[in-house]
Amino acid sequence: MSNKTVYLNGKKVSEDAARVSIFDRGFQFGDSVYEVIRCYNGVPFLLDEHLERLERSLGELKIPLPNPIDEIRDLCTQVAREHGTAPSVLYIQISRGVADRSYMPPPGLVPTFVIYCEDMPIADKRLYSEGIAVAVLKDIRWLRCDIKTTSLVASVVQKMNAAARGAEDVLMEREGVGVVESGSGNLFVVKNRCITTAPEGEFILSGTSRGLVLRLAKELSIPVKLAFLQKAEVYGADEVFITSTTAEVLPVCRVDSVRIGDGFPGPITRRLLSAYRAEVARVTNYKYEE
Ligand code: PDD
Repeated sequence: MSNKTVYLNGKKVSEDAARVSIFDRGFQFGDSVYEVIRCYNGVPFLLDEHLERLERSLGELKIPLPNPIDEIRDLCTQVAREHGTAPSVLYIQISRGVADRSYMPPPGLVPTFVIYCEDMPIADKRLYSEGIAVAVLKDIRWLRCDIKTTSLVASVVQKMNAAARGAEDVLMEREGVGVVESGSGNLFVVKNRCITTAPEGEFILSGTSRGLVLRLAKELSIPVKLAFLQKAEVYGADEVFITSTTAEVLPVCRVDSVRIGDGFPGPITRRLLSAYRAEVARVTNYKYEE
């Protein structure tokens, strides 16, 4: 395993000692929430946005915060700094806690609180110059995709099915709605210099990087529409890209067997990727390799 800096229930522990009970509801029911936060130069990026979403996810599931949010914010900053300056990610998971197995949680449980940091290099340059291939598959997730729960098996299965088709990610097609997002990121489609992405609500996780890209598009005077797209509209796009904490702004150049645009990342995708990275550099002082 890669080198990790781990805190369990607020205390620093070795990777070997980083263990939770088999009776934890996170393990037995997926009854837990998580966040993935990129750190550049030892600084967590978009930390407030991630913590706001963490509080919201916990609130929707009625899981109490394990510590006041200011303490969690301080711990995130400390763990990222302790871990070092190479590009990394903070992983936070909070479960409802340990109990005898019953669907109905007993009152008074103490949440289990995991936070660790591990190195994660910026994705290979080739991905950004050539784009990735994705497969459109049925969205078999539950109807509260706005909550960042660790119940991710539907996404795991569809990512495996996409990989079996030679694709690097899956685009989730929700019956009666449209192609809503990717397996682990938000979907953006460019047509005639206008960007479309799905509106917030139960069909998508509202991404922190989605929020930043929407702000950057506004600053760059690129028009944006919030709407669900049908598969044929994705096939017919000039440009497609996916946003996420880990991948930033990732061009998509093939959807199923359809080549997007001329098969290379388009101008709006490239502009937004460089604006995104300029914002990372401004906030964290991180210098991307040329
Ligand atoms: N995934 N939609 C889904 C389903 C996601 O899992 C994610 C993030 C996003 C983008 O959110 P953000 O921009 O805040 O990273 C959208 C993370 C990276 C993961 O599960 O590893």
